[in-house]
Amino acid sequence: MPPLLEAVGITKAFPGMLALDNVRLDLQPGEIHAVMGENGAGKSTLMKILSGVSMADTGEIRFEGNRVAPTTPREALMLGIAIVHQELSLVPTLTVAENIFPGRLPTNAFGMVRFGQLFRQAGEVLEKLNVAVDPHVLVETLSIANQQLVEITKALSLNCKVLILDEPTSALTDHEADMLLAFLRRLAADGVGILYISHKLKEIFQVADRVTVLRDGKYVGTEVISETTPDQLIRMMVGRELGDMYPPKNQQAGAPLFEVRNLRLPGEEEFNSFQLFEGEVLGFAGLIGSGRSELARAIFGAEPKAEGEIWLFGKPVRINSPKDSIALGIGYLPEDRKAAGLFLEMSIKLNVEAAVIEAVSSGPFVAGNKERDLARHYVNQLNVSTPSIEQEVRRLSGGNQQKTLVGKWLAIQPKILIVDEPTRGIDVGAKKEIHFLLRALAQSGVGVIMISSELPEVLGMSDRILVMHEGAIVAEYNAADATEEKIIRSASSHKGE
Ligand SMILES: Nc1ncnc2c1ncn2[C@@H]1O[C@H](COP(=O)(O)OP(=O)(O)OP(=O)(O)O)[C@@H](O)[C@H]1O
Ligand SMILES: [Mg+2]
Repeated sequence: MPPLLEAVGITKAFPGMLALDNVRLDLQPGEIHAVMGENGAGKSTLMKILSGVSMADTGEIRFEGNRVAPTTPREALMLGIAIVHQELSLVPTLTVAENIFPGRLPTNAFGMVRFGQLFRQAGEVLEKLNVAVDPHVLVETLSIANQQLVEITKALSLNCKVLILDEPTSALTDHEADMLLAFLRRLAADGVGILYISHKLKEIFQVADRVTVLRDGKYVGTEVISETTPDQLIRMMVGRELGDMYPPKNQQAGAPLFEVRNLRLPGEEEFNSFQLFEGEVLGFAGLIGSGRSELARAIFGAEPKAEGEIWLFGKPVRINSPKDSIALGIGYLPEDRKAAGLFLEMSIKLNVEAAVIEAVSSGPFVAGNKERDLARHYVNQLNVSTPSIEQEVRRLSGGNQQKTLVGKWLAIQPKILIVDEPTRGIDVGAKKEIHFLLRALAQSGVGVIMISSELPEVLGMSDRILVMHEGAIVAEYNAADATEEKIIRSASSHKGE
């Protein structure tokens, strides 16, 4: 039997960049086939070609043995190939149901949308997939995790034979990811072939049958999961051994740097207080929606506080806007790089400069050599793969966008850096680099607050860990006594327990 889907000799060039160079891939019915590789390796580009979003320069795609060349996503869908993109593509101002059935809304004889039927159908699909989201609500009111689940539901609502998922779990908690993976296994058992992109090795070993590795746009190899190891895959991806993912911790706490006193978020009852010390990495654990990002945004001045004080170097400070924070030397790397972090239409250079401009000048700004050097410095330090720093950020791969965002905040040389899911969508090698970079920053005296939904990362990086639940800090652990189990227990504990 021919493979369900096969790609041979796929080549695709962008200006100044050969994104794919003679790449091949084959997918069997019922198989979960992982695609791995560093940021910018060409994974998303290949998936876009297979799903009709863009066209290869050369090469051949075969579907059930027949040569095909989908030129639009719609054509690919007609064949039975659906894709869930790395960056979410829902319409925020429409309901969940309308997003699940775009262009396929049930209408009555007068062409009017039958909303009753629409919501019922959407509700059925969501329920079948075990997604606890109300089809009536607007997408913009959902967390990123729930938006991701809606996106997947949308792709799965069509009866596709090939499902392509581009980093579907990067915004999900472990628990949500487990549910999704279990779901994918059931789907595969029904004969659907799944192409699964992820940087998370653990997931790949949990769910995939085979894995294909790309490096710098080239095909490196395909392995059967049961016959390979994480180390071998890292070698294939990175071309060398990586060693320890986490730097050694701070042995000694420094002087108090920063303090939050009785901060209450609007609409919440809880008061939160904590201190941050010089040279410390303070981890924030908790479930998605537990209030970590809200607290961080309130501290940074990106969201209002109902009440509370912030102290810096032993003095109260006023923070009413991000501008105030930046002027005080506080940086905040938001969890959603697309919505809050980056100007996608602008160059890497301008993005890296943006926060510095806020920090160094309040008047009209002319970019000079200093700023250009800065951008180049961080692009080099973070290994952003790009032909030049003039490249528009939207043309970068997802992981390289994230690196640009990190660079932007390093560039202000903050005294306090709050990072929210700093390694989301980042490849293993770059992840290690960011860990070491954050630690080096701490060693130079900076206080780092790190929010992460990846428990091994929180444990591996933090000197101290605060756990949030329903808008409140409910537990504190020192690195030495923290365990995954204790954190999970605190994160899901109910008030008063
Ligand atoms: N529209 C575009 N214009 C110019 N260059 C592009 C465009 N899309 C992708 N590229 C470049 O092609 C290369 C491959 O990008 P791709 O998005 O496929 O990487 P990826 O493997 O998905 O990486 P990541 O893990 O970061 O998502 C990158 O160097 C990227 O900058
Ligand atoms: Mg990608």
